[in-house]
Amino acid sequence: MSDARKVHIKSFGCQMNVYDARRMADTLARDGYAETAHAEEADLIILNTCHIREKAVEKVYSELGRLREMRAEAETRGRSQMIAVAGCVAQAEGKEIIRRAPSVRLVVGPQNIHRISELVARANNGEAVVDTEFAVEDKFEQLAAPKPEATRARGISAFVTVQEGCDKFCTFCVVPYTRGNEASRSVERILRETQTLLSQGVKEITLIGQNVNAYHGKGPEGRDWTLPRLIARLAEMPELLRIRYTTSHPRDMDDELIEAHRDIEKLMPFLHLPVQSGSDRILDEMNRKHTRAEYLKIIERARKARPDMAFSSDFIVGFPGETDQDFEDTLSLAREVGYAQCFTFKYSPRPGTPAADFGAQVPEEIKSERLYRLQELIEAQQHAFNLSCVGRELDVLFEKPGRHEGQIVGRSPYLQPVPVIAPSSIIGSVARVRVNELRTYSLIGELVAQPQISPTNNSAAEVNAFA
Ligand code: SAH
Ligand code: SF4
Ligand code: F3S
Repeated sequence: MSDARKVHIKSFGCQMNVYDARRMADTLARDGYAETAHAEEADLIILNTCHIREKAVEKVYSELGRLREMRAEAETRGRSQMIAVAGCVAQAEGKEIIRRAPSVRLVVGPQNIHRISELVARANNGEAVVDTEFAVEDKFEQLAAPKPEATRARGISAFVTVQEGCDKFCTFCVVPYTRGNEASRSVERILRETQTLLSQGVKEITLIGQNVNAYHGKGPEGRDWTLPRLIARLAEMPELLRIRYTTSHPRDMDDELIEAHRDIEKLMPFLHLPVQSGSDRILDEMNRKHTRAEYLKIIERARKARPDMAFSSDFIVGFPGETDQDFEDTLSLAREVGYAQCFTFKYSPRPGTPAADFGAQVPEEIKSERLYRLQELIEAQQHAFNLSCVGRELDVLFEKPGRHEGQIVGRSPYLQPVPVIAPSSIIGSVARVRVNELRTYSLIGELVAQPQISPTNNSAAEVNAFA
């Protein structure tokens, strides 16, 4: 293959897909494909799709229609483009995609992306290729390592998949069908990948999985490790400054993990813990396997372990059978917790999931009205939380130049953007910032001290910047 080939990957959905897109790009780089942000100039276009909500499949087909036109136009210029579909719609639809959109020559499920090179080669030879076998163990073993040039371009915060799939079967959710059974990567693999990322300048790792706190990967001594044990091991790596994890399920939020927030300084005091509803009746219908009181208890324990902990959640409004009272219970739960931010969704019936066939589907206007009310509350909470940071000193991990001359932007422990005037050598280190002002969602502040944690490999330059 020639070095001039280009691949464009367009990802939808969760961080899992972002991670998969990066690993596909890293794998294809070995075959001489450079990544491009422009679909028009690509030889290979991969739509990395999401199936979680509303009309996902239709959106993919309409996107494919657009790509087909673009491809026809490219052909008139003598360029041939290959179109591939990956991700959760690929898994759910399989060969149906090629039947409905013959311009697609390759369909690859999320558990098969480690085979992307071979599949692309077959498709380039004229075969219509569909690979949606569940093969997560192979994926975990064979995924390409992150590429240095690519990592540098992608910044100092990186995702590492530690777990994939789900056995919880919430009645509204497609994930157990598109990502398969829950499976964990081995500790060794995760440490190796993290070490590679760190050697390429990464300073913050977010461990990701559909149920990341159900992690149970094989440790070097042959026994399964828990997520908090993995976090404690990662925290020993000197170049790693910050650790996060997402998404957690309330059922797997045990004492050991909560205590890790108390004991491990590098573990950020921010917990995304989806609750979906504040009504016990609806939680039961959703098969969430926990009550409102149990959820609130977790929040209380986490706050006790780490008083500066902030929380976020996912909510679904208008689940089948949700009454005004059930919805009021959701509002009251949100008031009781006081979130730093949340994602809110209207229930969307997903074909093949139990709740899609439940009676008493909630009319669209009621869903919209409830969504509006919940969003109003959440926005007020987010604003109050952001305002509560004004006047405080926060540790900020600096990531990249800001919009204005001389400005560098970092993130607070709570993921808020924090632009300050600073030398660019501060990028990649943590420094303390006094927050003076809130501007929309950003905290405006000034440096108050030298970097808190000086990474061993490049600390001199960073400390000098403050002299
Ligand atoms: N594993 C995570 C999140 C999975 S999907 C968890 O257990 O919470 C991300 C979010 O999408 C979910 O938390 C849920 O709020 C939302 N979601 C999933 N299926 C949905 C559906 N059918 N309709 C509306 N929202 C949905
Ligand atoms: Fe979906 Fe529930 Fe599994 Fe989360 S826990 S991925 S919402 S089935
Ligand atoms: Fe979407 Fe699949 Fe993630 S359905 S949310 S891309 S697991």
